[in-house]
Amino acid sequence: MSLLNAICRETFSRTTFARIPEPALVMSGDETVRDYTGCGEAGGALYGPYLYNAMQIAARIRPGARVVDLGCGSGQLLNLVAGWNPDACFTGVDLSQDMLSEARSRASAGRLANVTYVNGDFSGLKGFESCAYDAVISSMALHHLPDEAALARTFRSVDRVLKPGGAVYLMDFGRLRSVDAVKIFVSKVRRSETEMLAMDYHASLLAAFSHADFSREAFRFRPNETTLYRTAISPLVVVVATRPTEGLPASTQVRFREAFARLSPQRKAEFRQLKWFLRFGGLSIST
Ligand SMILES: C[S@@+](CC[C@H](N)C(=O)[O-])C[C@H]1O[C@@H](n2cnc3c(N)ncnc32)[C@H](O)[C@@H]1O
Repeated sequence: MSLLNAICRETFSRTTFARIPEPALVMSGDETVRDYTGCGEAGGALYGPYLYNAMQIAARIRPGARVVDLGCGSGQLLNLVAGWNPDACFTGVDLSQDMLSEARSRASAGRLANVTYVNGDFSGLKGFESCAYDAVISSMALHHLPDEAALARTFRSVDRVLKPGGAVYLMDFGRLRSVDAVKIFVSKVRRSETEMLAMDYHASLLAAFSHADFSREAFRFRPNETTLYRTAISPLVVVVATRPTEGLPASTQVRFREAFARLSPQRKAEFRQLKWFLRFGGLSIST
């Protein structure tokens, strides 16, 4: 299928293919953790999206906030956010002990005293107090859930632990309309990234929940407070988010600019693509 065909299909088709859950719902094993964290280092393919998410998250939390990260993985995003927001307190939750020990050792290497990592299933958030958190965040994790019922359970758990008026920023892949479009996106990644990342991306896009799934959950979950955004043309990236709470502190802007300046031209271009495709889908960012 040509790129043009795929774009037409993504633009006009109303149907999508059946979801194929991730072969490994939990990410474990030294090799998996090493490969994954490699992509999240400065210069890696995931670092630009982390910077984007960190800015969006920073715009939704205030000093003193208690924040939970669902499926924190190796903690690279959460540690970045915790470093930028030293007056807030963060808890990352993941089912993978291997990912958690990587996250903890990175937090201690960065001398971050405001982040804790706990082992648990984010669909139930067992052990997390009700109405106790100011914000719940997540990046690239929801598609690891086994089915739509688990997605619904996750949104109910988020609703339970959040304080009234609490903030959310839940970002994930959305399901494309055709497997051929998935192949085109994956082949683009395969040309410049590792085979591991291309395979992981492939599995993620097949396992992504549909825009309709997110729309149903976002509508049930605090409908007057949250909005579902998606990248323009196709829902490659979806975000369920509350409105930003206030302007970003100058120190966050400076940290972002310094980190952005260190990106290679390719990574800068990828960041801008994400930023503009989400902006055309309704979600803006102050950078
Ligand atoms: C693709 S990684 C994303 C990690 C991180 N949020 C990021 O942006 O790089 C997904 C993570 O979700 C975790 N995970 C999957 N299902 C989970 C569940 N039900 N509860 C907690 N963690 C889960 C996996 O172990 C993995 O570490």
